[in-house]
Amino acid sequence: MRYADLHQRSISDPNGFWMEQAQAIDWVRPPSKALFDDDAPLYHWFRDGLVNTCWNALDRHVEAGRGDQVAVIHDSPVTHSKRELTYSEMRDRVASLAGALRAKGVQKGDRVIIYMPMIPEALEAMLACARLGAIHSVVFGGFAANELAVRINDAQPKCIIAASCGLEPGRVIHYKPLLDGAIEQASHKPDFCVIFQREQEVAKLTDDRDFDWHAFQYGIPAAECVPVEGDHPAYVLYTSGTTGQPKGVVRPTAGHLVALQWTMKNIYDVDPGDVFWAASDVGWVVGHSYICYAPLIAGNTTIVFEGKPVGTPDAGTFWRVISEHKVKSFFTAPTAFRAVKREDPKGKFVGKYDLSCLKTVYLAGERADPDTIEWAQDQLKVPVIDHWWQTESGWPIAANPMGVEPLPVKLGSPAVAMPGYDIHVLDEAGNPVGADTLGAIAIKLPLPPGTLPTLWNAQDRFRKSYLDQFPGYYATGDAGYMDADGYVYIMARTDDVINVAGHRLSTGGMEEVLASHPDVAECAVIGVADALKGQLPLGFLCLNSGTTRDNAEIVTECIRLVRDRIGPVAAFKLAVVVDRLPKTRSGKILRGTMVSIADGKDYKMPATIDDPAILTEISHALAGLGFPKA
Ligand code: COA
Ligand code: AMP
Repeated sequence: MRYADLHQRSISDPNGFWMEQAQAIDWVRPPSKALFDDDAPLYHWFRDGLVNTCWNALDRHVEAGRGDQVAVIHDSPVTHSKRELTYSEMRDRVASLAGALRAKGVQKGDRVIIYMPMIPEALEAMLACARLGAIHSVVFGGFAANELAVRINDAQPKCIIAASCGLEPGRVIHYKPLLDGAIEQASHKPDFCVIFQREQEVAKLTDDRDFDWHAFQYGIPAAECVPVEGDHPAYVLYTSGTTGQPKGVVRPTAGHLVALQWTMKNIYDVDPGDVFWAASDVGWVVGHSYICYAPLIAGNTTIVFEGKPVGTPDAGTFWRVISEHKVKSFFTAPTAFRAVKREDPKGKFVGKYDLSCLKTVYLAGERADPDTIEWAQDQLKVPVIDHWWQTESGWPIAANPMGVEPLPVKLGSPAVAMPGYDIHVLDEAGNPVGADTLGAIAIKLPLPPGTLPTLWNAQDRFRKSYLDQFPGYYATGDAGYMDADGYVYIMARTDDVINVAGHRLSTGGMEEVLASHPDVAECAVIGVADALKGQLPLGFLCLNSGTTRDNAEIVTECIRLVRDRIGPVAAFKLAVVVDRLPKTRSGKILRGTMVSIADGKDYKMPATIDDPAILTEISHALAGLGFPKA
């Protein structure tokens, strides 16, 4: 079936379309139908089916005689090590870990927080939870203890599984003190922690609370897969919203399985046995879907890469990994290619490796600028496919379905709607706008299988954040347009979310931290354009009257505060003291205008501005930081 027919069918006959796709999954009890709409506008998929994710990701491949195929390759330039694990080994290791967790009381529905770097044990921990029907919540290693504490309080985990350390180029990230600090701060306390001790750092275990990963499994029987209902949460993944309280995106088990399985052949064009590599981190949704679950569900070999695009050891690392492990489809963020291009614009390193195995490259996480795509196409001589998705969707909303029918690439567009996504561009009143006209991008309900049915413990917030703005639609939070051929163009966020090096961050969350500084009376954080990371946060600080302290000292403290409270991943390094913030007469801070000034873009003087002179002061302050960039 060609793309247009396939998409049309997914919208007009969702039950028929998705029940067919569901046949690629092993069910304990097959569902009677795909879509349950009795609770609209809340929808459920495959609700009366019984299924287990770990079975579909590991056991079924072993049972089918593929146990000796490599499931996971750990390639770690930061520790100078490589390791391969077959499907049989993964199944046994995961079953053993699950058995030990069960022996300590972890059951279906219990939450388990996972705080681990890019090592296969992170996938094993996720899959062990899935085996028991426990709900994992992975926390990215670049977050500070405070962010971990916020997630502990919200998810209320029975157990936390952590590694002793992570490794960033040139420094060890001491996970254990961060974990201890987070547990101390949190009002909820886990029953126990499991610590995977890495060679690079052996952490001191806390008596009666912490167990060594290996020792606590010793002599304990392995666990079998526990069947769960189709809408049982597979995991909760926290993502940035408009405030410092992150949103716990819930991923339903069966829809996740069916949708991810569909994507591997139809979008990423890989077959069982092919090597697929997503150079992201398990702490992000890309890591959940395309480092851990989808490649394993589809019987591929997945790569867990512990390194950076540059500096580990050089700008040829990506090409070395692709060539050495015979990667067929490669997925990364545009910022990673910009980092490589900056160090190796002429592709000196590309020429050193045989990349004949590579068929397609996929980019997501932020807008892919045409320059970067063209550079990658020229260097790699394969299609470079931009595709658009969100933590909430869990899989691409728009993409070029390379395994169905490769469509013409239009630079600047992540291409067309994937099955079940009925994308519309709406004006402020919720009316559809015409082709090529900017508006809010919304998706007609129901969203397809695998997408979020709600937010963890926050049904009201789910409705308010996504469903209330345009009744009958899911509001994506992205703005853009669609052309006459149905290609979408994602131009900006409609909320206070910014995208820094492919990482989604909340400016509102940073403002909450800055406002807690004793000398700060008022503040605003905006995202300014950056040639490498796409955007960077920049803070404006208004100080309490009468403060006599040195501005530079306060700026340094504020930068340190954001790093300590949110984490290094916030990349908050730019801040400036100003007397006043530009506001409308009703008191709304004109962040968009400040972004235009910082980016050197033309802007219209807002009609409702309270005092236009403040914009001149803002321009001067930005000039002091070197904005706008040439
Ligand atoms: N644990 C601890 N710290 C981390 C971390 C982790 N897992 N990941 C990043 N950090 C730290 C970095 O060391 C850096 O610290 P610093 O301020 O002391 O230098 C800080 O967080 C900011 O990290 P980042 O924004 O990633 O910048 P970078 O300079 O380390 O690397 C790139 C720049 C472009 C190479 C890198 O951002 C990259 O590879 N991005 C791809 C992103 C991606 O895959 N996103 C997923 C969506 S597909
Ligand atoms: P996250 O939830 O971290 O995956 O971030 C999702 C957000 O990243 C989206 O809402 C977009 O704003 C942005 N994004 C992701 N992929 C793309 C893309 N291909 N083009 C433009 N923006 C993207």
